[in-house]
Amino acid sequence: MFQNGSGFMGCVAVAGFLAASSAFAQSPPSEATLTRVALPKDFAATFQRYDMVDKVDRKIVRYLYINKEALAGIKPGEPFPDGTILVMEDHDVALEAGGVPIKGTNGRLQPTSRIKAFAVMEKRKGWGETNLFPPEKDNGDWEYASFKADGSANPVKLDNCYACHLPQNKDGLDFTFSGAKIREAAKR
Ligand code: HEC
Repeated sequence: MFQNGSGFMGCVAVAGFLAASSAFAQSPPSEATLTRVALPKDFAATFQRYDMVDKVDRKIVRYLYINKEALAGIKPGEPFPDGTILVMEDHDVALEAGGVPIKGTNGRLQPTSRIKAFAVMEKRKGWGETNLFPPEKDNGDWEYASFKADGSANPVKLDNCYACHLPQNKDGLDFTFSGAKIREAAKR
């Protein structure tokens, strides 16, 4: 009886462990960073596209958009306005047989309408102070978010977004890589 009992208990413990570990493997959001940034609805129609960046190695073209209210409010020598929203939309490119990206006569990649992912950064007064990061990791009041091809939230850790964009807090770029292009677009 005793042997049977402990054997039974052992089984329950193993089954419990398996259930717990598989539940853990299926719940990546425990790692995900909370974010207040949403993918703006209809941005492709209502935002200004200010640049397209070819990424040959990744076989994508990145479309960069800014909300028009922010674009209108940009002033030389000042950080981008409160309420600025930047959307980066990654498009698959046209490929030759064999998977090599096709280049146009202008040397540029040829984006297709197939979208791979979206990344968004948005700045709102007070967000830097109220996010979950320590001040030395903050990107001012910018917050980041990642979205899947279908526009649904991609619940991932966002530490890398902050870490890679942090050194861009220079030369009027305000934590962006394409800040010079944004300022050019603001003058048009
Ligand atoms: C390893 C560095 C790196 C990481 C990590 C990174 N980015 Fe970027 N990001 C860039 C670069 C470089 C660009 C400019 C476009 C390009 O060359 O790909 C960019 C551009 C952007 C832009 C367009 C505005 C701008 O800064 O020019 C947005 C929005 C953006 N990233 C959001 C994100 C989000 C959200 C994450 C995290 C999920 C993220 N980035 C992680 C390097 C990075």
